[in-house]
Amino acid sequence: MEKAIAVVSGKGGVGKTTFSANTGLAMMSLGNEVTVLDGDLSNSNLGLQLGFFQFPIGLHDALAGNMPIEKAVYSHPSGLRVVPSSVSLGCTRQGTHPGRMKRLMSEIRGIVLVDCPPGIGQDVQAIMKACDDSIVITNPEIPAVTDALKVIQVAREVGREPIGIVLNRTGDKYELRPEEVEAMCGIKVLGCIPEDRAVKRSIFNRNPVLYEKPLSKSSLAFMEIAASLSGTEYSRPGMLMLRRLIRR
Ligand SMILES: Nc1ncnc2c1ncn2[C@@H]1O[C@H](COP(=O)(O)OP(=O)(O)OP(=O)(O)O)[C@@H](O)[C@H]1O
Ligand SMILES: [Mg+2]
Repeated sequence: MEKAIAVVSGKGGVGKTTFSANTGLAMMSLGNEVTVLDGDLSNSNLGLQLGFFQFPIGLHDALAGNMPIEKAVYSHPSGLRVVPSSVSLGCTRQGTHPGRMKRLMSEIRGIVLVDCPPGIGQDVQAIMKACDDSIVITNPEIPAVTDALKVIQVAREVGREPIGIVLNRTGDKYELRPEEVEAMCGIKVLGCIPEDRAVKRSIFNRNPVLYEKPLSKSSLAFMEIAASLSGTEYSRPGMLMLRRLIRR
């Protein structure tokens, strides 16, 4: 494994799963080997977002010590490698052990993005400890950023200073600006993903938006964030190129 990044948030529903799937795909399209892992064992929905409803082996089986992680890796039509978790109640009650999680992730090649549960519970702390880095997702609103502050504090307590914050669902007049969030949290904002109907449509269709609509405003933002995370050169396609691609 090259690097494992925990995707965390204070508040729920801010876009961690959407971020994990799309940033994973964006990093892959920039030439990285990436696997996204559903670390939300209680309310797993990374698999659901990507159309994996039923699968013989999931992360919970590997964590229970029954299987090598490679048997729980599935491929989305986009090429994205996904480790889903079970949605059944029995598996929901299973906890995450940092040592076991770390061992499993070490069996995966390339970069691993772990979609975490919201909040600062034991499972989130275990995943943060098992990973090298964390990224905090928040909406640009005071309640969400206030909750983000708590998860940042916990990340620091477990010795994993987050590499940055991503603001999701931006573009409204009544919202905090990136500089304000940076001043509140003391961490840099890696990028902003705009509110985009194409995201909702893509979730309905069980695809990452980047796969379904690569030139949407959210897809371009995911590409930029992925480039900065993987240290790759990327510039948005120019207007002429955009027109040509749209006309195709
Ligand atoms: N950029 C966006 N534009 C429009 N809608 C979005 C965007 N990002 C996320 N959403 C909407 O928000 C919903 C919640 O997103 P998501 O499931 O990724 O959040 P989450 O943080 O993983 O939630 P949970 O804490 O429950 O795991 C999505 O189903 C989608 O409808
Ligand atoms: Mg989620």
